[in-house]
Amino acid sequence: IMERCLILVKPDGVERNLIGEVISRFERKGLAIKALKMMRVTREQAEDHYSVHRLKPFFDDLVSYLTSGPIVAMIVEGNNAIASSRMLAGATDGSKAAPGTIRGDFSLDIERNIVHASDSLESYEHEYKIFFNENEIMD
Ligand code: CMP
Repeated sequence: IMERCLILVKPDGVERNLIGEVISRFERKGLAIKALKMMRVTREQAEDHYSVHRLKPFFDDLVSYLTSGPIVAMIVEGNNAIASSRMLAGATDGSKAAPGTIRGDFSLDIERNIVHASDSLESYEHEYKIFFNENEIMD
């Protein structure tokens, strides 16, 4: 089924010069990039993006981290884009993610884990609007 997924190259990914590496993995998989930009995330955007985690003990850290430096946001599209993107990203905790995945290859951390990928259609519908206007998405 044709789906879209929101991907973020988080501040640690940008800082470590992994933007191209991350984009390349999605492109090589065959996912089409429908929107792409580099930006600073505001506190309001980060709180909205992570709103499902607002009661978790790590919420404040997560918001601080996402706003700590520039990110790259993109929307990818393809067959089962959400499941495929999450396979490419690997397990949340980089220290447990399989080699060959983005986190498995580049992270040892559960918070500084290089990428974000929407975990469901509902999450995607909530998330993409935080980072993109409709006129920034190519059809
Ligand atoms: P992400 O996929 O962007 O969405 C939720 C984030 O919460 C996740 O990446 C992790 O970076 C973060 N996260 C999940 N569990 C923990 C935890 N126990 N401690 C710190 N961060 C966490």
